[in-house]
Amino acid sequence: MDYKEMLASIDKSRVPQHIAIIMDGNGRWAKKRLKNRLFGHRAGAQTIREVVECGVDFGLKYLTVYAFSAENWNRPEAEIKGLFKLLLEFLKKEIDEIHANNVCVKLLGSEERLDPAYLASINNTLKLTWNNTGLQLRIAFNYGGRQDIVQAVKKISQKSISGEIDPESINQELIESYLYTRDMPDPDLLIRTSGELRISNFLIWQIAYAEMWFTDKLWPDFTRVDMVQAVLDFQNRNRRFGAL
Ligand code: FPP
Repeated sequence: MDYKEMLASIDKSRVPQHIAIIMDGNGRWAKKRLKNRLFGHRAGAQTIREVVECGVDFGLKYLTVYAFSAENWNRPEAEIKGLFKLLLEFLKKEIDEIHANNVCVKLLGSEERLDPAYLASINNTLKLTWNNTGLQLRIAFNYGGRQDIVQAVKKISQKSISGEIDPESINQELIESYLYTRDMPDPDLLIRTSGELRISNFLIWQIAYAEMWFTDKLWPDFTRVDMVQAVLDFQNRNRRFGAL
């Protein structure tokens, strides 16, 4: 089957609402070509473009991609700077087409340690899309799942002390309303490339019932066909959410 036939075989009544992707393997992809790691990240950015277009093709509502984790600060400074520069360049270059596709893009994560001027340039680029009602793309940047839970607990604790929240009323819905993902449903499907079988602190609260889909392909080699294959496999699974 080619891409169009695969797209047509998606059951439109059971499309995952939210797909989360751990885009792994850019470094190895570059190394195989005797290039530096940023060469791999640049190729990886093109794959983001491809999966966004694919999501638009089959009516995906939410897509979250893990671009820079809270732990990625431990990488060499040149790589960190390169990733930051790449993100801004990529968004500036793609924003018109993103907007034309009715896609809304926001960053997801902590603002701590990020240069306010840099964040302002990103948000100035993105705000054109903020009223768009199509695919909601979230770029997890300076994101960590545990950090997400910690910041939620801090806010809830402060409101408990000030009397705004009754500790007895704390439940799952309340906690969810303080996470960075408060305006999105939980991911139905989590994809990770490059053969690693880990979660790496990505959306750890939110993926409690997500289906997992792994591929050995390195992120720059991942294509729209792989994305649709993941959706088709998802549709063949029986999600029970703990029931029978
Ligand atoms: C993992 O590959 C990838 C990352 C840490 C960053 C993801 C970034 C991109 C896909 C491109 C830039 C982002 C945007 C939003 C334009 P790795 O470096 O861990 O690869 P390795 O495991 O093979 O070393």
